[in-house]
Amino acid sequence: MKISVECSSITDFRCDLLIINEFEKVKVPGGATGSVDRALGGLISKLTKEGEIDGKLGKVTLLHCAGKTKAEKVAVVGLGSREKFGYEAVRTAAAAAVKKAQEVKAKKVATIIHGAGIGGLDPEQAAKAVVEGAVLGGYQFTGYAKEQDPPAFSVEELVLLDHNKNKIAGIKKGAKLGLIIAEAENYARDLVNEPSNKLTPTEFAKLAKKIAQINGLKISIVDPKQAGLDLLWSVAKGSEEPPKLVVMEYRGNPGKKEKIAIVGKGITFDSGGISLKPSNKMEEMKTDMAGAAATLAVMSLLADLKPKKNIIGLMPLTENMPSGHATKPGDVVGSLSGLTAEIINTDAEGRLILADAITYAKKLGATQIVDLATLTGGCIVALGDAATAIMGNNQELIDKLLKIGNSCGQKMWQLPLYDEYREAIKSTIADIKNSAGNGKAQPSSGAAFIEKFVGETPWVHLDIAGTAHLDAPRGYLPKGATGVPVRTLIEFLVS
Ligand code: BES
Ligand code: MN
Ligand code: ZN
Repeated sequence: MKISVECSSITDFRCDLLIINEFEKVKVPGGATGSVDRALGGLISKLTKEGEIDGKLGKVTLLHCAGKTKAEKVAVVGLGSREKFGYEAVRTAAAAAVKKAQEVKAKKVATIIHGAGIGGLDPEQAAKAVVEGAVLGGYQFTGYAKEQDPPAFSVEELVLLDHNKNKIAGIKKGAKLGLIIAEAENYARDLVNEPSNKLTPTEFAKLAKKIAQINGLKISIVDPKQAGLDLLWSVAKGSEEPPKLVVMEYRGNPGKKEKIAIVGKGITFDSGGISLKPSNKMEEMKTDMAGAAATLAVMSLLADLKPKKNIIGLMPLTENMPSGHATKPGDVVGSLSGLTAEIINTDAEGRLILADAITYAKKLGATQIVDLATLTGGCIVALGDAATAIMGNNQELIDKLLKIGNSCGQKMWQLPLYDEYREAIKSTIADIKNSAGNGKAQPSSGAAFIEKFVGETPWVHLDIAGTAHLDAPRGYLPKGATGVPVRTLIEFLVS
């Protein structure tokens, strides 16, 4: 979808579909909607009075204009209540409108910038949210089927309209950033939706290499077995697919030693290993590399955004499979850090590969670590698909990410990291064990395991098990991969 910005009155613009809006409980439409209403001889007022247009968030009413406006058709999208209105509502409304545009096969679509006028939002931020919502809401994973139902249709151009020329520069800036962010999120979605036989660790590493070349980033693809990443190797050795640790580096502040490491769990398929998962919904475990996908998506746009920070992205990649070569419950394995780990449950594999990747990041000089992982089913029990669980060893860093996530529409909720959880993963025959083995507080004991390898470096852990993937579409999020937490990370890195 091409995005452009024009300084024009809303009724003067020629397009296939014009998107305008209305709040709940509006009696007489005002602003841009009011002018379109007048051009249509009071049709919007009439439908509002009759209750067909009610302003409910994301509800779209399509009007055929029969030559009365320069737009072929008009879509009135609901913005919800004024009290709850904000950038998240803007994203939701923009997504609903773009879905309607796809449905009616509108190629050239123009939209008002929801909230930039009557809504009282900052025009630049509102334009950013409109573009994010539109591009995220328009996402379709075409996959491998010869026929799509409904057939995939992409809007060719979305034009953001505002008649006030003083606002245009800000709107252009917001729209540009919104497009970069949303495209990166959609790229992460594509990777996560890809089946595990197509996106193996080897294929993932190839994509990373291509992205690094295009963007002039340093990249190394490490062989975990040779490099002494024994925890990562212990997960990989049951599989026929060779594992990889992909390390990408962006230097936006060469003079400084500060280095942020983004570490994403990249299990391209999690069968559970010898502690085999039940077969029901096991196919969803192709999404167990959502952390690595988000990491690659973020790394892919640093050259465009040019934050003045040094950032490394680490993606430990492997399948977790059962076989005669697989690690068994009760085995003790070493690690890059030198610590030994007793494997209680081979299905608690995410923490193992993260531990080695984090040790690797520390050896590269990471001064701050953020890891992202579809780590525990317990996280889904606690928070569902509504919020990402956040934990860590540095409250200041946790607070920073919490605030960013919650304000950019990717909700987060902090879970505790008490000493009880550290106690629960003490082993009698190794330095640590990979599971408490009692099913209790799994997001927290998982974080406690990772923490042992992090040490004192400021660190935040995001458990995205519930939020990386949805069973059914919601607002601008599709069924399947969501792209969480790409937006949060970008806002964090550019802040
Ligand atoms: N990848 C899973 C967690 C998961 C489950 C993510 C469902 C998304 C949806 C992870 O590797 C896992 O299996 N965790 C175990 C840990 C336990 C054995 C300590 C779990 O949650 O059961
Ligand atoms: Mn697992
Ligand atoms: Zn897993």
